[in-house]
Amino acid sequence: MSIQYNFDELVDRSHTHSVKWDIVPPNAAKDTLPMWIADMDFPCAQPILDALHKRVDNRIFGYSNYHSDEIKQTVTDWFQRRFEWTIHKEEMVFSPGVVPAIAFLLHILTEPGDGVVIQQPVYYPFADKIENSGRRVVNNPLCYKDGAYTMDYDDLDRKLADPSVKGMILCSPHNPVGRVWTAAELKQVVAIAQKYDKWIISDEIHCDLIRRGFTHQPVLKLCPEYRQRIIVCTAPSKTFNLAGLQMSNIVIPNEAYRARWWDITMNEFSIASANPFGITAMMAAYTQGEAWLDQVNAYLDENVAFMRQYLQQHLPKAHMVEPQGTYLVWVDLRAYCSDAKKLEQLMLEEAGVYFDEGYIFGEAGAGFERFNIACPRRILQQCLERMTKVLQSLIID
Ligand SMILES: Cc1ncc(COP(=O)(O)O)c(C=O)c1O
Repeated sequence: MSIQYNFDELVDRSHTHSVKWDIVPPNAAKDTLPMWIADMDFPCAQPILDALHKRVDNRIFGYSNYHSDEIKQTVTDWFQRRFEWTIHKEEMVFSPGVVPAIAFLLHILTEPGDGVVIQQPVYYPFADKIENSGRRVVNNPLCYKDGAYTMDYDDLDRKLADPSVKGMILCSPHNPVGRVWTAAELKQVVAIAQKYDKWIISDEIHCDLIRRGFTHQPVLKLCPEYRQRIIVCTAPSKTFNLAGLQMSNIVIPNEAYRARWWDITMNEFSIASANPFGITAMMAAYTQGEAWLDQVNAYLDENVAFMRQYLQQHLPKAHMVEPQGTYLVWVDLRAYCSDAKKLEQLMLEEAGVYFDEGYIFGEAGAGFERFNIACPRRILQQCLERMTKVLQSLIID
């Protein structure tokens, strides 16, 4: 029988060097609740903890080899079992994170000055990595209509038609708007990229965190005919709350790109070996973590339902964009405060809640807040209560 987890338990993470709990902006109110960075306040699955304890008992933590058949088999088995997606083991490479992988890939796939399409509002490190490496952000904004997000294919077509634009970074599922793209949507994106022979980096880090009723479609499974120009980023880090262990698996079907990857990561930057705890945790997660993950997803569904109801009752002018995936909820608060900077100040200094501000995901996010709801429900409730108290006191224009 599988273990029944209690996600209502609040683990004290203070003084653990936690970015989420130990780094607080200087202007934040006392005891501000961190609802921003994307890690979970849920303890890891017991099989992962057991495997890590066992690994510690070995007492030596030397350089560790990722390139073993056992590791690659474990990862590919996970995607086969969960998504019926067959990954060829030789196409998988190691990265200490998905964001570093995107940085490496930009060096492989582009030259300084080249354009790269992203779909804002979107996970802000995409724009940072593009700009910080001297490339250009080319925005294909998502359409926000009737409270829901879709893609603008005509605009994407125009942007990818430009010869100075080399490819796009797709966020699938999408952070922060929570879309789980359908097969039809993904096929349309791939068709446009194919029309102009542009590459796609598909960041699928949130693929296991899917809300009830939705199904993640791995783009490489969906569009095998375009596999030479698609790269997929995956990781157990969001799924199993292992972000600090710095372990991700990047699927690069194109052999020439893989050779360049090896050149850059190994020969230039010496990203040679993985963290032994990362390997151990990933192996346990992908072989024995399924029951925990199913329970986490069920708990997150309930947190979403709780939040929806709370907002309807107490802040009816707030619009919660229904998340289809991820544990991040995107809320339009412009009806209460249309000034994004003022909203930020009110939340942080008066309400005592620390969100990822909507505007950091791109201009279109101004006036939105991104909630990380992977926390015990009573923390979510406290956050909503604090926010409501402040917003209700505002004069609604
Ligand atoms: C879409 C997306 N990609 C990547 C990351 C982070 O990846 P990593 O910590 O492996 O660099 C996140 C974290 O929130 C994310 O939402």
